Amino acid sequence: MTTSESKLRETLAALGISSAEQVQSLFAELRTRFDSELAAATGQADFKRFRDSWLARKTGVLTLVTDHWLKPATPDLKPAVGAALNALRAHVDSGVALRQALQDSDAGTEAGVKDRVDLSLPGVIRPLGTHHLVRQVMQEIENIFFSIGFSVAEGPEIETPYYNFEALNIPEYHPVRDDMDTFYLELAKGAPGQLLLRTHTSPVQIHTMEKRQPPVRVIAPGKVYRRDNPDATHSFMFHQIEGLAVDSDITFCDFTGTIDYFIKTFFGQNVKSRFRPSYFPFTEPSVEFDASCVFCGGSGTAGSGGTCGKCKGSGWIELFGAGMVDPAVYGFVNYDPKKVSGFAFGIGIDRLAMLKYGIDDIQTFFQNDIRFLKQFP
Ligand code: FA5
Repeated sequence: MTTSESKLRETLAALGISSAEQVQSLFAELRTRFDSELAAATGQADFKRFRDSWLARKTGVLTLVTDHWLKPATPDLKPAVGAALNALRAHVDSGVALRQALQDSDAGTEAGVKDRVDLSLPGVIRPLGTHHLVRQVMQEIENIFFSIGFSVAEGPEIETPYYNFEALNIPEYHPVRDDMDTFYLELAKGAPGQLLLRTHTSPVQIHTMEKRQPPVRVIAPGKVYRRDNPDATHSFMFHQIEGLAVDSDITFCDFTGTIDYFIKTFFGQNVKSRFRPSYFPFTEPSVEFDASCVFCGGSGTAGSGGTCGKCKGSGWIELFGAGMVDPAVYGFVNYDPKKVSGFAFGIGIDRLAMLKYGIDDIQTFFQNDIRFLKQFP
């Protein structure tokens, strides 16, 4: 027998209950009702309805019992009603909690079945990228110089005119600045000085010598920027690798021997190197290095018998600028020009990559065309 809804809205006195034993049996009825309703509430929605009917703050069974049975109970019955209500509340709470936990774990299992990973399925194989050709060539050049004792130095891509020009012996209004027509940054009004994207890696020479005392043997690879119109051999952003060696006894022979070693290791032992006089404000003497044409073997004649198109019949290909560090530069970094000597060079990595791999348009490096990039895995 279960306690009917109407009994819950009557007081104990109205129900004719006047002893502790009667209270016990009344609560026993209620407990039986709870157990059978709990057993019947199988689905999620049923269980929620059932839980609310017992625990809802205003209209739940436990609230009705408190309001109609406990509160108006006579003082001699109140302890028995209070104790029975507490026992019932504990029974209801634990029954509801247990069922809730079961439902949650069922839901988790259902979701788990849906989301379970089938380990027997073949995996997704994502295509692996490779280093860009410019990066590969940069690494190749670095490795050659590492093998003869050079290490890498770094400097910022945004420079002050002092490091990009003045400390390299290129004062304001020097005509060489026109060749490096430059990207300056737009700064806030009242900014203390100008800033520009570096036009070459040579400022790293200054940063390095400011920080270190000789002997110095460094290479500095990185991006540089110039307002050059794009064409087959020019880009407004390209890559250079700077080299700098300074010590107490470095001679012109050390310089040319190092460059010859580099050219032969990079292009092959049969390639010859030569240098011609040139001009850079930060080297004295300055030279331009050439390599014998890697396409016609230095003969100037193409395989078909005509003039080699790559070296235009000269048998030589221009590579990069270099020279012995101008003593004026040592003055900017507090080296004693009477005690030290050294050489520096600045290689255009993109152009070197073009030469080695027979690429005739520098723009292909920056167009991200996968058909081009895939040729250099
Ligand atoms: C310089 O930048 C000097 N700082 C090099 C140097 C360093 C000389 C140390 C002496 C001692 P130059 O402007 O020639 O030099 O540039 C060096 C190389 O960068 C060139 O030989 C060329 O290979 C490459 N280069 C120059 N301009 C471009 C461009 N717009 N696009 C791609 N490569 C370029």
